[in-house]
Amino acid sequence: MIVTGGAGFIGSHIVDVLLERGCEVTVIDDLSNGRREFVDPRANLAVINIQDEGVAQVFAASRPEAVIHCAAQKDPITSVRQPLEDCRTNVLATLNLLELCREHGVGHFVLASTGGAIYGNAPEIPTPESCRPQPISPYGVGKRAAELYLQCYRETHGLRGAAVRYANVYGPRQLRTGESAVVPIFFEAMLNGVPLRIYGQGEQTRDFVYVSDVTDATLAALDYTGPDAVFNVGTGVETTINELFRRAAAQVGYEGEPNHAPERPGEVFRSCLDCRHAKEVLGWEAQTPLDEGLAQTLEWLREHLETPSE
Ligand SMILES: NC(=O)c1ccc[n+]([C@@H]2O[C@H](COP(=O)([O-])OP(=O)(O)OC[C@H]3O[C@@H](n4cnc5c(N)ncnc54)[C@H](O)[C@@H]3O)[C@@H](O)[C@H]2O)c1
Repeated sequence: MIVTGGAGFIGSHIVDVLLERGCEVTVIDDLSNGRREFVDPRANLAVINIQDEGVAQVFAASRPEAVIHCAAQKDPITSVRQPLEDCRTNVLATLNLLELCREHGVGHFVLASTGGAIYGNAPEIPTPESCRPQPISPYGVGKRAAELYLQCYRETHGLRGAAVRYANVYGPRQLRTGESAVVPIFFEAMLNGVPLRIYGQGEQTRDFVYVSDVTDATLAALDYTGPDAVFNVGTGVETTINELFRRAAAQVGYEGEPNHAPERPGEVFRSCLDCRHAKEVLGWEAQTPLDEGLAQTLEWLREHLETPSE
């Protein structure tokens, strides 16, 4: 198996489960946002950019049966500032991986895609997969393009698998990089006792799904051969940022009030996924309640928090 982005937050959890199942795993990651120490030493780690031609040699050497593609430029806000680089990483490099799958007879491909950014400000909440994509950031456009390339390769070359559209994933190993990882940003600020910022009024909503649930959904999609090979992966529960703040503060025992900053371009206001398709077809459903997932995330952060933020 190849897991791109396997040194990152979600990818490293996927690697752990694959190793537990006895799979041989090669990780492709340039460590731009991942950490070497997140990769179990039983996996082979190829430190390389997915845009690099050398990725072909990694395929030739590891002869994978499947590819789980998590490496990405993953920040919608960055994609607004740098749309061409976003496209090179999230679209062209994905197409190159699909080409390598064709050349090397790889049978399965799962693409880590996105619910929030693809649906944009969706007319229907919770949003089903049938809702017309209306991305409002280059990141959302690129992920949709990658999904369509995958669909094309499934049709044309008999590749199995699917695109899994994650909601807002949180859990251990999520780093406070950029400004989009709201759970570790909140927890770290609270643990360090520093002021905390909420963009807009805080009434924007997200669907927070725990990383082990996301891992299970991703692996469940590997063998999929049917139609409609796009699966929402969330909880179907809409949580405001203010509510997340209250729940996180209760767990930390933080008594401060957040500062409010202006809303940011490229962000959707409401986001929540209808996940009945994954339940009906893959037999997958999120299992972890928000408070339980937050408690596990906080426990990990308490052990790994190194330096005060800002
Ligand atoms: N975290 C979320 O809430 C969320 C939501 C929707 C979709 N996703 C998607 O899930 C996937 C994984 O996200 P994550 O949260 O684990 O992010 P992450 O940044 O922790 O993991 C991505 C990994 O990819 C690596 N990477 C980035 N660009 C690379 C490149 N050009 N070549 C090689 N490696 C590269 C990084 O070093 C990192 O280890 C991404 O495709 C992201 O778009 C995540």
